[in-house]
Amino acid sequence: MAKPRARPKAGMQARPFLRNHWYVAAWADEVGRQPLARVVLGEYLVLYRTEAGTAVALENRCPHRNLPLSEGRLVGDTLECGYHGMVFDCTGACTHLPGEPAPPRWARVRAYPVVERRGWVLVWMGDPDKADERAAPDYNIRLADPAWWHVKGHLPVKCGYRLILDNLLDLSHLAYVHSSTTGNRALAEHATIAAETEGDRVRVTRWMSDIPPAKAFVDYAGYSGNIDRWQASEFMPPSYIYVNSGTAPAGRGVSPAERMRSQGLWGFVVYHALTPETASTTHQFWAMAIERRFVPPAMLPEFERQMINIPLEDVAVYEAQERAIALDPAANGDVRPFGMIAADKGLFAMRKILQRLYAEEQRRA
Ligand code: FES
Ligand SMILES: [Fe+2]
Repeated sequence: MAKPRARPKAGMQARPFLRNHWYVAAWADEVGRQPLARVVLGEYLVLYRTEAGTAVALENRCPHRNLPLSEGRLVGDTLECGYHGMVFDCTGACTHLPGEPAPPRWARVRAYPVVERRGWVLVWMGDPDKADERAAPDYNIRLADPAWWHVKGHLPVKCGYRLILDNLLDLSHLAYVHSSTTGNRALAEHATIAAETEGDRVRVTRWMSDIPPAKAFVDYAGYSGNIDRWQASEFMPPSYIYVNSGTAPAGRGVSPAERMRSQGLWGFVVYHALTPETASTTHQFWAMAIERRFVPPAMLPEFERQMINIPLEDVAVYEAQERAIALDPAANGDVRPFGMIAADKGLFAMRKILQRLYAEEQRRA
């Protein structure tokens, strides 16, 4: 009689959040003179801009009777609660309590450090004394490059953030999830995969030589024969991913050293910032950038439509995974794999880093 298959162990761990990090809370154009409510790491924030244009993030809960301050209104650089009129300044201090001579000591909300980086509004979710602007992610350079076109989005996703990191560290899924545009079977079947860890970063490169081009590479790059293709994903804690994708006619690909940065004759980059909203929901901020010369202006509307659709195809996958995980009482809120395949090496390395950083943060707390 066949031996029953051993049940895998519980998921790698319950879902910790690293707190002493910068997280993208919004795109810069989402934050203005209208208070914006957003949940980040399970905390309720309100974001707005001062009259001078500086982004501010405060706790979105009035200390009086808990109305979200985002329901109130901006008065100059201050936020007035929409219930009984307490007024809070950018530091979270109450500057006015109607009918009282002075605001009581308890009348204040938490203020979060904020920085902006090429369209990202980032908030520091940990100890404010540890907030270091130099540590804010700065890799989304093409979003400010006039030679590059980009499209961006913010997707509220019903899954834990690590499932999205998994997705981006194993780009073989293009063959199955994005087969109408950037993927084809050859991409999954004929790749040499390398996963390296350097400090807190994980880099996964996939190299495919002499394969047929996927549809988007025929349509936009004009390939008719086989190509060399490379994909590189880099994970940076707590939850950032940079993806580089390049191609060249077969036999003319680039050296391993160039695969992280070069697009060859046709390719693009994608920046992902994954901000946990709750344990099982995530804000996915994404932007795809490509050199303007790679897409003829007449083809740009269709190209843009396809690029916006690709992340939606992924969302359908990881939201379905999350539903399966939620129904697994032993999952502990995470993937509970029976085993590991070669393409999972980067995913495991990423999770190991998250676990180590979380343990370090807990030790120092
Ligand atoms: S709930 Fe905000 S002032 Fe009363
Ligand atoms: Fe994808």
